[in-house]
Amino acid sequence: MNKDEKLALIESALEEFYGSREQIAPNLSKAVLYSIQAGGKRIRPFLLLEVLEALQVSITIAHAQVAAALEMIHTGSLIHDDLPAMDNDDYRRGRLTNHKKFGEALAILAGDALFLDPYALIAQADLPSEVKVDLIACLSFASGSRGMVAGQVLDMEGEEQDLTLQELQTIHANKTGKLLAFPFEAAAIIAGLTPELRLVLTQVGERIGLAFQVRDDVLDLTASFEEIGKTPQKDLAAEKSTYPALLGLEGASDFCNRTLEEVKQKLDQISQEIPFKKETILEIIESLRING
Ligand code: IPE
Ligand code: IPE
Ligand code: MG
Ligand code: MG
Ligand code: MG
Repeated sequence: MNKDEKLALIESALEEFYGSREQIAPNLSKAVLYSIQAGGKRIRPFLLLEVLEALQVSITIAHAQVAAALEMIHTGSLIHDDLPAMDNDDYRRGRLTNHKKFGEALAILAGDALFLDPYALIAQADLPSEVKVDLIACLSFASGSRGMVAGQVLDMEGEEQDLTLQELQTIHANKTGKLLAFPFEAAAIIAGLTPELRLVLTQVGERIGLAFQVRDDVLDLTASFEEIGKTPQKDLAAEKSTYPALLGLEGASDFCNRTLEEVKQKLDQISQEIPFKKETILEIIESLRING
């Protein structure tokens, strides 16, 4: 299956959930779809389908539903991250943030829906029950008080503080790393890999997630609105602890690129143990490198 086909499958899983059934509160679906359809990069759900294919699993609609569930949580996290009480941002994915368009109350509730709906979507997918229970537990751990939400709390508490690199790494590992590790762990669950290989793949995802957030911190400083679809240099204004703030721009870029190199070595290790077609994943990793 090529990239466009995978992306189309993910889009249709998302749209089917919010678009085509009787909606109890039409404005809620409207607010949710506004953010869902705003053109995010879809790196998390795409990675899930790519890792599955690398593990020689044929992609089905059920897999796209699991991928869509992950993108729903990610999108909900962005809506809440942008709220005035959090990062207070006006633009996201190149358009007004959800609360700017629909008001704070509906934006909060759209985020709530995006955090709760994914579990029904996975529960109803055409997969073995024990696989679904494992996926649901894993997604909850990656998202809630053991993952993204915890990281967001530490991120807020870290504003205007001098954090150590270790403390910052803990923030990044949770607020971003765990949702980027989910595609790898979920693929391992679906493919029925051994606990050992599941762990190695999860670690690969965690490292990519860390590099991804360091790259986001660097882009906040160096990229334009057109490139990132959000207001640049917001981290400076909020006195966020970031990798560039701690290591400098060059140090942070080097750290990101070095981390991605480590990931490539781990992927080599995996392909020595099991059939693993890693080319497309390597391309995605290359696309995350910071050049110059
Ligand atoms: C933005 O994530 C938030 C971070 C975790 C850095 P993405 O850069 O994946 O955002 P979208 O989904 O493409 O909008
Ligand atoms: C966001 O980190 C992480 C989550 C939304 C969980 P940032 O606050 O750096 O993300 P952007 O820069 O607003 O996309
Ligand atoms: Mg934030
Ligand atoms: Mg933010
Ligand atoms: Mg950022």
